Parts: sequence; structure tokens; C-alpha cells
Amino acid sequence: MARSDSHFVCQECGHSALAWSGRCPGCGEWNTLVEAKRSAAPGSRGGGATRSRAAAPRPVSLREVKPPKANRLLTGIAELDRVLGGGLVPGSVVLLGGSPGIGKSTLTGMALGNLSARGAKVLYVSGEESAAQVRLRAERLGDDSLSVPVLAETSVGAVLAALEAERPGVCVIDSVQTLHSEGMTGAPGSVGQVREAAGAITEVGKRLGTAVVLVGHVTKDGSVAGPRVLEHLVDCVLLFDGERERSFRTLRALKNRFGATSEVGVFEMRSGGLVEVEDPSARFVGEASDAPGSCVLCAMEGTRPLLVEVQALVAPTEIVPPRRVATGIDRNRLAMVIAVLARHGGPSLAAADVFVNVAGGVRVDEPGADLAVALALASAHRGRTLAGPDGRPLACFGEVGLTGELRFVAHPERRVAEALKFGLRPVAGPEAGERIDGMAAHRTLRSALGATAAAPRQAVQAA
Ligand SMILES: Nc1ncnc2c1ncn2[C@@H]1O[C@H](COP(=O)(O)OP(=O)(O)OP(=O)(O)O)[C@@H](O)[C@H]1O
Ligand SMILES: [Mg+2]
Repeated sequence: MARSDSHFVCQECGHSALAWSGRCPGCGEWNTLVEAKRSAAPGSRGGGATRSRAAAPRPVSLREVKPPKANRLLTGIAELDRVLGGGLVPGSVVLLGGSPGIGKSTLTGMALGNLSARGAKVLYVSGEESAAQVRLRAERLGDDSLSVPVLAETSVGAVLAALEAERPGVCVIDSVQTLHSEGMTGAPGSVGQVREAAGAITEVGKRLGTAVVLVGHVTKDGSVAGPRVLEHLVDCVLLFDGERERSFRTLRALKNRFGATSEVGVFEMRSGGLVEVEDPSARFVGEASDAPGSCVLCAMEGTRPLLVEVQALVAPTEIVPPRRVATGIDRNRLAMVIAVLARHGGPSLAAADVFVNVAGGVRVDEPGADLAVALALASAHRGRTLAGPDGRPLACFGEVGLTGELRFVAHPERRVAEALKFGLRPVAGPEAGERIDGMAAHRTLRSALGATAAAPRQAVQAA
């Protein structure tokens, strides 16, 4: 009988089995067997005992190691280059994750178009769409994108052969979940298949000096689908994020071996492709309203301050439990802010539906958003605007503690400076070590509520 060249390895104990089963015969754990490829021939890697007699390899001092001479490849998309830490590093592997329809193919297609226009040799491997469909998108993205060579292929062997033959400087695999390796029985996208495909392509990419961008799907909880090991394998993990129905998208690095992970790129999806938003604060502040329930949050996106509008709506309801809907912020933090408000000088929202939304489809994942949510809720509840007499919205930031205190968050001076740039002052926030010009510091949520028109009437007197 022909021997299959794959076997199943338990991810917990390392037990190897010939057939898949739900429970590992070795350790008894459930769902841990993952298909893996056998190595070519036993002993071909020079097995333990013989290896020890071979000449020992000599470690080299880092001073003697030649630095790579190749320069980074600029994709021509400034926000993408910045998040990458200054462009693509030749021979590196980037994993670009994002939910369906967010614009991964658009972003990579535009980057390849720009690179090819600058004379780089590129290759776009599409496993999800036919060449005709890729062309359709490229037409929308402009003339440069039409010059990108495309390969509609899902076999790992064929992709590797194409890489060896073409030796492109940059290759995009869209997506790694569609690739399948002939020697394995698992369906494309299964843990074993993804790991095998990514491993093989990484190996060839490093050898040829090709910068490889693996496009990956994202699971419901926001992590890149497939094995965690994929994230270890690659040099850089980028996450393309945003609300699909909205036009704004953010690109951030979760891991980067060649740069900081704190940078964030902001894009807007238009008919002509993704457009970089160079000054996102200006966009969001320009759209901010002076209606009750709205305020401006001085958020930090990596090293860059970003002003976004936080909107709240409080509507009386008889439904028990009332609805708490959060878009762009964490639902649990919203629940916490509502609870703290009720206890520490704010309104009780127990009999109201609460909706909080970060305008523009931006997602803010930092505790510094708490105060903005609290003030917007209080203002919405009272029906009084937070805007100053000149109609400018109130800017604020700060973490709200469970005991009602306002807590320090990172980079207060940068947040305040960004708000001042747009004439928003004073900025409400927690006390920082030193005095910051243009900032109204508060020690507690109660005091911040009291200083703004959002406080319930009795609390104003108490504060
Ligand atoms: N003519 C258009 N004008 C504006 N936006 C468009 C237009 N055509 C497509 N889009 C946007 O582009 C998105 C699809 O982009 P793209 O195919 O790059 O996404 P993707 O992340 O690769 O999706 P998938 O997960 O299906 O591969 C659509 O969701 C839509 O928002
Ligand atoms: Mg796609």
C-alpha cells in the first residue's frame, strides 16, 4: 500500500499517529492532533550520533557578520511604509490579517502596482479570485496596478516553482488559507496546511531574498486565523482593521522584527482604492458636532495622537436588562463606566438603553477613552451640550478607576498638544506629574463632571 507522507502530531505531547482522531492516544487531550508532513527520509538531516562527530559549526561574532546591503523597498503607500518601519525588508515575511472585505487585496494590489512602477519585480498570487477578477480590481486602482503579473494558483508546489523561476523582489500570497500542499490530506486553511504552506514559502523567500506578504483571514475574536505558530514564523504581523460599512480603516503592526509596533496607519476606502488619511484628527474634529452626547477624545494610536469624536445616546426603556451597544470601544469598559457613573456623581442609567459610538468607524482600544465615554453619556442623559460657548467640542481623555478616580494615561502632553492644534481648550484629563498648559486636570470623575455642563444638577452643587 502506498504510504501517505503525512502524519498527525499532537500539539500537547508530541505523540505521532497515522490517522486523525478526536482525542490524542498519547495524552488524552481532545482536538490536538494536527497534520504534519514527514521529513523526506529518515536520517537525511544527519541524525544525532553521526552529527556529533561532524565538524562543529563555528559561531561568528556579530561584528564580523556582514549587514544586509539591500535597502528597504518602499511600497509608495506612506502609511503602510511607516507601519512596516520604513518599507519592506528584502527576504522578510509579512503576515497581513484582516476581516473579510476590509481591503487586504486592495492594499496589497496598490502596493505591488507602486513597486512595479518603480521597477521592482513583483508577483501577485491569488488563490481566492480568478485572474479576471483581480484585473477588475486593478482597473479600479489605476494603471500601475494593471502591470502587476498575477498567478491564480492554490498549489504550494506550483507557487514555489513560480517563485524559483520568477525570483520576484516582492510576492503577495492572497491568501495563505487557500493554499494546499499535495502531500497532506487536510483541507486548505486547516492548521497543518497553513503551517506547511507558510513554512515552505518563508524558506524559499528567505533564500531568494524575496519579501513575501502573506494575506491571512482573521477569526471572530480578531486574531489571525490559523496556527499561532504562523505569527512566530513571520517577521511582521499587520492587522487591517475597521468597520466594514464605514470608510475608515486602520493598519497596525502587532509584531515587527524591523520596527516599532506602535505605529498606526489610517486609510479611507474610496472608489479609486485606499486613500491615506494624513491628518486623521482634522477629519474627525471637523465632523464633530456640538450636540448633547458628543465630545472629542484625545486618543493615542501608537506614537501618534488622534482626535476622535465619541457619541452617546441615552434612551429611556422598559426592557430589562436595558441595551448596551458599543461601537469602536470595548463593551466591558462601557459597562464599567456606566456602573462608575451611577456610583460617583453621574446619572444612573439603569432604566435606559445606552449606545456609544466612536465616529468614523475608528476602534479605540485604550483605557484613556473612559472619561470621554463617561462625559458623553452624562451629557446625553442630561441633554446638555459639552461644547463651549463658541461651539467648539470638549476634548478630554483619561482612565476611570472603579472608585471614581481619574487615572493617569500615557503621553498626556502629546494628547493635549493635538487638541490645542485644533483650538480645543481646555482639555479635561487626569492629573499628570507636571502642569500641562491648556489642560484642566481633575482628580476624580465627579470633579470632571462638575466642571462640565454634563453633571446632574445636584452633583454640580456637591462638587
Ligand atoms: N467601487 C468601489 N468603491 C468603493 N469601495 C469599493 C468599491 N469596490 C470595492 N470597494 C470596497 O473594497 C472592499 C473589498 O476590498 P478587497 O477585495 O481588497 O477586500 P479583502 O480584504 O481582500 O476581501 P476578502 O476577504 O474577500 O479577500 C469592499 O468591501 C468595498 O468596501
Ligand atoms: Mg481579498
